[in-house]
Amino acid sequence: MEELPDNFIDLVITDPPFNVMNKQDLKFKHRTDIRQDVKFDQFESYESYLTFIDRWVKIIEQKLRMNSSMYIFFAIQYITDLMNICLKYGLRYKGVIIWHKTNPAPKIRKNGYLSSTESVLFMTKGKPTFNFLGQNKMHNFIETPICMGNERLKDEQKLNKIGNFATLHPTQKPLELYEHFIEVSSNVDDLISDPFAGTGTANVASKKLNRYCLGIEIDEKYSHYAKERIRSASSTIQKFRIDKWTKKIE
Ligand SMILES: C[S@@+](CC[C@H](N)C(=O)[O-])C[C@H]1O[C@@H](n2cnc3c(N)ncnc32)[C@H](O)[C@@H]1O
Repeated sequence: MEELPDNFIDLVITDPPFNVMNKQDLKFKHRTDIRQDVKFDQFESYESYLTFIDRWVKIIEQKLRMNSSMYIFFAIQYITDLMNICLKYGLRYKGVIIWHKTNPAPKIRKNGYLSSTESVLFMTKGKPTFNFLGQNKMHNFIETPICMGNERLKDEQKLNKIGNFATLHPTQKPLELYEHFIEVSSNVDDLISDPFAGTGTANVASKKLNRYCLGIEIDEKYSHYAKERIRSASSTIQKFRIDKWTKKIE
């Protein structure tokens, strides 16, 4: 991300590590879909998590062009920390959107509420594109199932306990969510970026909606599957206006 030119990106939509893994999550060995190996979500302390957030927010703010937006999926308990860091770097608070998962993971121990919501912090720089899609579509509350079925990528080298290919990524987001934010906050041909790309959901949604997208992912396995997924996604535009972005890169 640091190598990109400054003032370059029209929209960031991202889903960074949440720092919500705790030791209890590791105990449920009998379940296949509990987050047992989410190494990217583990931080030594609250302070080291804040330092991590500060580092990437600072870089992203530099790469966002004037009149751009940023949507960040985040754990509700850290949303104020994230917002304050964004404000420190000059971004403007525009609201929090709640995503309600209609089919969350069940609560095995029945000792608390299910974790069926995630928050999305919406921040802007300048006066960005905002395509108001109609009163019914612009609630700050969105309901969808978690990513599943054919949309959910499978790890072809790993079987789950019932002998099927295991789920590739523990937190693959539904395309529908990303498509919604992209439609609202960008135009055809714009450049989007997801610095924590995982399975390439932002890239696929951008391609489907005829936008460019730069995804960055640290894990080689995820990035391998993401590339395959992006390649096979369809786009209605045959030829992108590459000239627009090559000029910026020069
Ligand atoms: C919550 S997941 C994103 C999932 C994604 N939204 C999707 O739909 O697949 C966060 C991702 O960030 C990646 N990640 C963690 N630290 C990173 C870093 N420093 N640079 C790039 N990617 C990183 C992790 O490997 C993980 O795939």
